[in-house]
Amino acid sequence: EKGTYDHFMLKEIDEQPFVIRKIIQEYQDENDNIKLDPAVRQAMMRSDRIYIIAAGTSYNAGLVGKQFIEKIADIPVEVHIASEFSYNMPLLSKKPLFIFISQSGETADSRSVLVRIKDLGHPALTITNVPGSTLSREADYTLRLHAGPEIAVASTKAYTAQIAVLFILAVDIAQAKKLNLDFDPLQELGIVSSVMESLTDQKEEYEKIAKEFFTDTRNAFFIGRGVDYFVVQEAALKLKEISYIQAEGFAGGELKHGTIALIEEGTPVIAISTQENVNYSIRGNVQEVAARGAKTCILSIKGLEQDSDTVVLPHVHELLTPLISVVPMQLLAYYAALHRDCDVDKPRNLAKSVTVE
Ligand code: F6R
Repeated sequence: EKGTYDHFMLKEIDEQPFVIRKIIQEYQDENDNIKLDPAVRQAMMRSDRIYIIAAGTSYNAGLVGKQFIEKIADIPVEVHIASEFSYNMPLLSKKPLFIFISQSGETADSRSVLVRIKDLGHPALTITNVPGSTLSREADYTLRLHAGPEIAVASTKAYTAQIAVLFILAVDIAQAKKLNLDFDPLQELGIVSSVMESLTDQKEEYEKIAKEFFTDTRNAFFIGRGVDYFVVQEAALKLKEISYIQAEGFAGGELKHGTIALIEEGTPVIAISTQENVNYSIRGNVQEVAARGAKTCILSIKGLEQDSDTVVLPHVHELLTPLISVVPMQLLAYYAALHRDCDVDKPRNLAKSVTVE
């Protein structure tokens, strides 16, 4: 139930710090080490390449998951949109493992890929919020999100839960492979949970930015580089699906190859900068659009900030920044939709689980 909330979406945004804590608990043993189904670990260890298959927000979470599995666990990963993969299958490696990411576990596009790869005899792991779901029953292994029911059509807590579980999975494999980790993974997730809570406590700030940037605009751009590019794609999806503003997430460096032609006086451009190696260049991209009249805003992180930044997020581990930079983006989308009198929880033309291909 909604309780004191006007909308499930805001309730679910606020639940995220608790979901992260719940995930830590569920995937922790009595010695505070990561606890994971040994069969999942073996399947990952046997595989020479992971194929992540998903749609929409779950696909966006998969992009972040690829970073974890490649950078932490040292296994190559491809991320595919389910509806594309099902009729245009790439050449597969010798020992592929498929990971299906799906909040509902019922997405028909993903299921059609699962059926095909099972026919080919490949192993599959489903990461889902609904353990008895079709994708969970038909895969060899399941990891649960433990996010609790997600009611709003726009996915929020499932996205962060998916990223957290993918992080734990990557770390578990790294530990099994005896790779050196220079951080305490569950402690870092604990820090993320506290920071998330501090962000959801500052809603007025995001309501103000949403009003200023999205009240009467037809379109909006989000830009980022590296992992921030993945988060801006999710930011744009959230904004368009509930506020009906035409929004796109772009790689900062790619703007000048065409998209910058769309920038006019007052076009909103929101940039995320949480990664040291691109902090300088994304700021250059913001200047490029500002010089052409865009209304710009930078969301950065402690340690990389400059005085003019609109939002400075508290520091978290560099790999985990998507978990916190997405929260302001979810709130911006929420308030944009609210102030434009849109039906926040049930946007037009959309269903919570998409069971047709
Ligand atoms: C966006 C959204 C959709 C879903 C997509 C996949 O907010 O909710 O993009 O992420 O339809 O759904 P699942 O994760 O249930 O497979």
